[in-house]
Amino acid sequence: MVIRNGQQTQLKGEVFYPAPEVIEAAHIPDRDRVAAEAQQNLAEFWGKIATENFEWYEPWERVLDDSNEPFYEWFVGAKVNIIHNALDRHMRTETRNRAAIIWEGEPGDRRVYTYQMLNHEVSKFASVLRALGVGKGDRVTIYMGRVPELVVAMLACAKIGAIHSVVYGGFSTEALLQRIEDSHSKVLVTQDGAWLRGNIVELKKIANEALERAGTIQTVVTVKRTGQDVEMVHGRDYWYHDLMTQPIAVASTPTEVMDAEDPLYILYTSGTTGKPKAILHTHGGYMVGTATTLKWVFDIRPDDVWWCAADPGWVTGHSYIVYAPLVLGATGFIYEGAPTYPYPDRWWELVERYGITILYTAPTAIRGLMRFGESWPNRHDLSSLRLLGSVGEPINPEAWRWYYRVIGKERTPIMDTWWQTETGMFMITPLPSMPLKPGSATLPFPGIDVDVVDDEGKPVEPNEEGYLVIKNPWPAMLRTIYGDPDRYVQQYWSRFEEQGWYLPGDSARKDEDGYIWVIGRIDDVIKVSGYRLGTAEVESALVSHPTVAEAAVIGVPDELRGNVIRAYCILRQGYEGSEKLEQELKEHVGHEMGPIAKPVSIEFVRDLPKTRSGKIMRRVLRARALGQDVGDLTTLAD
Ligand code: WTA
Repeated sequence: MVIRNGQQTQLKGEVFYPAPEVIEAAHIPDRDRVAAEAQQNLAEFWGKIATENFEWYEPWERVLDDSNEPFYEWFVGAKVNIIHNALDRHMRTETRNRAAIIWEGEPGDRRVYTYQMLNHEVSKFASVLRALGVGKGDRVTIYMGRVPELVVAMLACAKIGAIHSVVYGGFSTEALLQRIEDSHSKVLVTQDGAWLRGNIVELKKIANEALERAGTIQTVVTVKRTGQDVEMVHGRDYWYHDLMTQPIAVASTPTEVMDAEDPLYILYTSGTTGKPKAILHTHGGYMVGTATTLKWVFDIRPDDVWWCAADPGWVTGHSYIVYAPLVLGATGFIYEGAPTYPYPDRWWELVERYGITILYTAPTAIRGLMRFGESWPNRHDLSSLRLLGSVGEPINPEAWRWYYRVIGKERTPIMDTWWQTETGMFMITPLPSMPLKPGSATLPFPGIDVDVVDDEGKPVEPNEEGYLVIKNPWPAMLRTIYGDPDRYVQQYWSRFEEQGWYLPGDSARKDEDGYIWVIGRIDDVIKVSGYRLGTAEVESALVSHPTVAEAAVIGVPDELRGNVIRAYCILRQGYEGSEKLEQELKEHVGHEMGPIAKPVSIEFVRDLPKTRSGKIMRRVLRARALGQDVGDLTTLAD
């Protein structure tokens, strides 16, 4: 039983009601009240939040400009820089001496950056970038592991108005090359190597390989981390620590005054077809959306130690490791390595050592740790934890219950947040005071209008599956696909064009209580261990091997990783399928795309099911792989 708006309601299904002390302790507004306010006047709702919580060099003329749908603009006319809010303004308050980043390396080395120290480092690197010829609007590719310098590089770009494009350190040559070329980056920031499970991921070596084929990069800055010998190209490559001790590294670098709508970063993500798309986010709206959602959903306070265990190379890290926590003046923890290295209690040891109060991770990580049993977490004092979070894919109720019972000791609510690279911020999520249902991301964040509809856009009946749609704009929304505005319109806004709704590409159902249960992707995106991959990217990696004529890949459910990739290949004439070739092709995909993209199996086939227009019917392959009925085959060519 729960009191909502003074009325007692009884929710259906398995429900976890927050303990009264959790509700009392939470410094957050009443969800129903603010949601009602937002519904009444969306612009006023966000405008008020933006005025009260952030500093602007100059105010806006309009909160929301929707005159050129779907190219929405937020805080139009305002001058701002997210760095002014994430660093500069904290120099004037006691936040200056608070820890901004607490970091532990996989080998066990530790570093703490106060806001003052972080600001100093960022300012110096910003001036180094300027000296290297980087200016407002220029693109900088960042290809690094989970080290503090990655955060410094991102913030330094933002400070001078350059657009960063972070490429996940688990990606490889081809993926990096594509992203450098598409963005026309001038400068690459990388590191010699990253620690992972006691091994070195040779980032600089991979970068060198990509740069043999990429023309736009003029300068490479390399952070020394693992210390092995790396090849440095004279006149192109510099060490970070060398540049930072030169006179070009000036700590008094001013922060560039930006328009609220100026680009902050691009981040590549996989879509339905073709190569990855560069999702573009801006300074003003993104700042307001990410910081507000973090503040309300995770109730961050000055004495918290917030651990978002994602990789900064994905959107979760951009929004909730880097930008939002710093804007809020919070203390964030970052760990470099693998959760189970050297033992399966590494994470729990970290929670205990640093007194982590809020842990935010992905279902795949929870399932991975669950495998090792309760004795590992039970060796540690986890009583500092007061909130837990989940993101990246639907969390299966079994993992939810384990997380809640074994890690949270049945005290800590679990915030299951649904959102995307494109949305920039949490969209469907509980607040700590809300009743929870394991496996449901619950209700939309105040100001977000979400529904589940059928082909015609009519709401489906409770518990029926349909398209998830978002019906109104939000401040942290993507503004476009960088360099491809037509595709932006086509991809997200054409399916329900008449209604003007955004299509995330997920299917979902809504239960009797209005709780939303996200089911999964309806397109050719595969979520492997929470990482977003496109069938087209993996297929093109396969086809780049000299033996492969054609390839199709599908995602099939996997207990641990959510989904795994299965591939089907037609070989070129004169080649025979064999176990050896299967192994070689897997390695090839790993080398081109990165280890996460490796198929678990490759089947050599003579034909692939295609439509008459030549599109591969992956649904037929998937049905066959799962032993299901292949369904309607009338469009099959042969
Ligand atoms: C999926 C990650 C269910 C979904 C932030 C979405 C989720 C895609 C959840 C975006 C969740 C993310 N429950 N599914 N809580 N969170 N997803 O761009 O399919 O890497 O469309 O952003 O992840 O993945 P992306």
